[in-house]
Amino acid sequence: MNTTIDDIVSLCKRRGFVYPTSEIYGGLTSSYDYGPLGVELLNNIKQLWWKEFITKREDMVGLDSQILLHPQTWVASGHVTSFSDPMVEDKKTHKRYRADHLIESWLEAHRGQNAVDFKVENLKVSDMAKFIAENKIKSPQNNEITEPKSFNLLFETAVGVISGDKSTVYLRGETAQGIFSNFRNVVDSTRVKLPFGIGQIGKSFRNEITSGQFVFRTLEFEQAEIEYFFNPDDTDWQKLFKSWQDTMWRFVVNILGIDKSKLRWRKHTDSERSHYSKDTYDLEFEYPFGWKELWGISYRTDYDLKQHQEFSKQKLEYRDPITGKTFMPHVIEPAVGVNRLFLMILVNSLRKEDKRLVLSLPPKLAPRTVAVFPLVANKPELVEKAREVYRLLINADIKTAWDERGNIGKRYMSADEAGTPWCVTIDYDSIENASVTVRNRDTTKQVRIQQADLVSYFRQNLHKEDDEK
Ligand code: GAP
Repeated sequence: MNTTIDDIVSLCKRRGFVYPTSEIYGGLTSSYDYGPLGVELLNNIKQLWWKEFITKREDMVGLDSQILLHPQTWVASGHVTSFSDPMVEDKKTHKRYRADHLIESWLEAHRGQNAVDFKVENLKVSDMAKFIAENKIKSPQNNEITEPKSFNLLFETAVGVISGDKSTVYLRGETAQGIFSNFRNVVDSTRVKLPFGIGQIGKSFRNEITSGQFVFRTLEFEQAEIEYFFNPDDTDWQKLFKSWQDTMWRFVVNILGIDKSKLRWRKHTDSERSHYSKDTYDLEFEYPFGWKELWGISYRTDYDLKQHQEFSKQKLEYRDPITGKTFMPHVIEPAVGVNRLFLMILVNSLRKEDKRLVLSLPPKLAPRTVAVFPLVANKPELVEKAREVYRLLINADIKTAWDERGNIGKRYMSADEAGTPWCVTIDYDSIENASVTVRNRDTTKQVRIQQADLVSYFRQNLHKEDDEK
């Protein structure tokens, strides 16, 4: 059975993965909070990314730069002038919409009726205006809309707000700029040499609008970005680009366990490519609302370092320690949204079966690896034994949940929806002979295991997938 976005949204709310932000005040547009299970899943994703791309690679280092950077950063990077979306406004409700999204919906609704063979990604703002006028496209409320205009996505705020002294700063629109502005610091303070990459995970902000795509596109989101610097004279950028594409693919398929048939590459057209990029591809995932960008990779050349050198008047060139030659490194940038990985993993894992809903998360991503239950909660001897097992697992660093609410069937249902791979039930035999029942989430099969063997059983199963790769 196909999973809809409504299935995902209601599961997330019901089980504590994601809540609408400020819900008690009616919510805030395109903003979500991550609940007790959601934050664990997000953390697991970020830890895996960090382990694969920073810890396990000698050519990569990490960074954690600020959300507020010197405002000149965004002038130099081109974001103040070129970081925009084409927007229209509903003339009655004054709600804003992305012009390209309205055109896409119109094309979808008129598919087959006329031979429209162009791609929205190819349209400039003026082309969009023409297309909207020619086809009399209206807002989703069927009202007239304004002509599309470019709308800058950077969020502005101010430092030192005593009147007159205010200076505009921006909430970062990408984490990448903190990497470029620290390029020289990293070269000077570490042992790196080209080619090498700097990666960081952190919040970015964009004043954009969306509807019905849940955490896919939000005002505030987390990016995991890499800037991989190289000497264009001795590294073929196309080969390096391709090898990064393979690395991204492997992370999604082998580490996150995503079904290959739901993934594809798409090259950006000339008009959609960002101002800084010479070539961009998107790794797209088939979300319930269509094929969408999960992870972008761009060849940013030496655009950013050159811009920052010019605006800061600081030398940002790299000096080759062997040849002594100085030059501006070029950069390949694989940049992903952690929240899009999160949504992809939920979509890929949620299964509707006859009588149950199961979130088949890979064990290493599951918020909890095991849930421990006393068979019934009103028998102190069972609760005491179950607590002993719970502590045994917690002390062995196995992420374990405790549940004594409701009947055992309800507890299994809740664990299945929480994506918990194994449940351990303690019954009277457990007191007699120190054995427990372990139920597998995906097969629902139950096996009897000695309490003393539990830790190694879960450890082996947790690492089984890694060994198989
Ligand atoms: N530094 C390059 C850069 O920021 P991008 O394609 O605009 O490129 C990179 O963003 C990734 O960040 C995207 O592939 C996407 O996964 C994520 N992303 C971008 N905007 C987002 C938003 N509004 N909400 C959630 N994720 C977003």
